[in-house]
Amino acid sequence: MKRALVTGAAGQIGTELVAALRRLLGPEAVLATDLRLADPDHPVRAEGDFQVLDCTQGTEVARIVSEHEADVIFHLAALLSAVGEKRPLEAYRVNLGGLMEVLEVARQEECAVFTPSSIAAFGPDTPPDPTPQTTIQRPTSMYGVTKVAGELLCDYYHSKFGVDTRGLRYPGIISHSAPPGGGTTDYAVEIFHAAVRDGKYTCFLEPDTQLDMMYMTDAVRAAMELMEADPDRLRHRNAFNVTAMQLTPAALAESLRKRIPHFEIDYDVDPVRQAIADSWPRRMDDSAAREEWGWSPTFGLDEMVDDMLDHLRLAHPIESASPSN
Ligand code: NAD
Ligand code: SER
Repeated sequence: MKRALVTGAAGQIGTELVAALRRLLGPEAVLATDLRLADPDHPVRAEGDFQVLDCTQGTEVARIVSEHEADVIFHLAALLSAVGEKRPLEAYRVNLGGLMEVLEVARQEECAVFTPSSIAAFGPDTPPDPTPQTTIQRPTSMYGVTKVAGELLCDYYHSKFGVDTRGLRYPGIISHSAPPGGGTTDYAVEIFHAAVRDGKYTCFLEPDTQLDMMYMTDAVRAAMELMEADPDRLRHRNAFNVTAMQLTPAALAESLRKRIPHFEIDYDVDPVRQAIADSWPRRMDDSAAREEWGWSPTFGLDEMVDDMLDHLRLAHPIESASPSN
């Protein structure tokens, strides 16, 4: 990796991946792009080069990749699961159509491509605990459909054209810098902001809904480590199961209550997102990632909760005081 272009860079993952890539490769070597013009003080725009780019516009993708002389594309542009159920045609067009354009440009420009897949690439027929690396993939959401098809498309471009495509099946990602983009695992981010700001949270998933999760620090490191891994060791490519922790809303609330004793949670279940969550794995088996490129998470539940609260308390110093203050 020498020069990187990131699509969907103003989103939850892009905000932190761009910062990490700029530290690794140098600010001038990383071009952040997104459909929406990031605010002038957004770090992807304020701390380096940023351009508006719609990933479904292949000619524009080709022009900007070529001008930047990118050798790797981190393709993050997508609509997430809950938004995808509201706007399925747009999810299909962006998630699959955009990926197709990016892969075609990568073939022409000889770039490597990182594309995140998701726990959403699995469905109700998949063994939920543990979910093997290779297993049944019959998702029931449009987002999941695009993720399975995207994995296959990336494998096709590797086997047919030799494009260096690599991907991760991310679990829900928890972070403090940028808000989540409209997924089913968003509760695990919202709960922190609500806890620090209001001392209470109304959760849209049932208390015992267990899903895989990962802290952003690990998610960003996983993407970069995968793209720097020795290709001769990779038997899988699109995409590796990776996980760090398994959470339920109740367990996360309990962990928060240990640090914010007045924190309260209640539940107002959204049937659409609950159905999606019920169709996803409870715990992925990530042994292929561990064996083939040395994946190992560093943040478990306690480390993640402490780090999230440290950052959010800096951002909301007054609100984080207990009600008695
Ligand atoms: P996000 O919704 O926060 O960000 C996506 C970005 O893509 C947004 O900034 C949006 O403006 C941009 N975008 C939308 N349409 C576009 C288009 N046509 N052209 C260019 N940009 C466009 O999403 P995220 O959480 O940062 O996710 C990034 C990737 O990681 C996605 O592929 C997502 O499916 C995957 N992923 C995320 C999670 C998670 O928990 N965040 C988990 C699994 C997989
Ligand atoms: N966090 C994502 C979502 O809930 C999973 O891919 O949509």
